Amino acid sequence: MEEKPRKIIGRRPFLGWITATISSLIAAAYTIPAVRFILGSSLEQESEQWLTLGSTSKIPLGTPTLSKTNVERRTGWVTSTEDVSVYILTNNGRDYVAMSNICTHLGCRVRWVAKREQFFCPCHNGVFGKDGTVVSGPPPRPLDRYPVNVEADQISILAT
Ligand code: FES
Repeated sequence: MEEKPRKIIGRRPFLGWITATISSLIAAAYTIPAVRFILGSSLEQESEQWLTLGSTSKIPLGTPTLSKTNVERRTGWVTSTEDVSVYILTNNGRDYVAMSNICTHLGCRVRWVAKREQFFCPCHNGVFGKDGTVVSGPPPRPLDRYPVNVEADQISILAT
């Protein structure tokens, strides 16, 4: 019986094959994360999150009360924590309103001035009423509101 001749790969083609394989792996190592980063952030949907602020017992009737929490945000591969501050207002202990503390003019933080019963924005003297409506100054619209849920004495807001 005659033996088949063995196919021998030469040194040059073998080194060429090894070089091409290693180059492909290096290219993939750089390209795949970059493509995932670019496409991932564009395809990723920003999810809504309910954020618990705490007990309703901390909210006095008729006085906007500052409440703070934070929300986790993902942008591409980066995860960051963002502070969220809202003023909670209730006039009857059953219905609650959550207002952003960010001025609708240029984004400064407003503060509640109890003596005047108004929110005041120090940047351009914007003034908002207790319910967040614009009283005076440059703000173009009332303070933004968050959907509120009260369950088992705990207040939650829906952050987007
Ligand atoms: S940023 Fe608030 S009045 Fe301008």
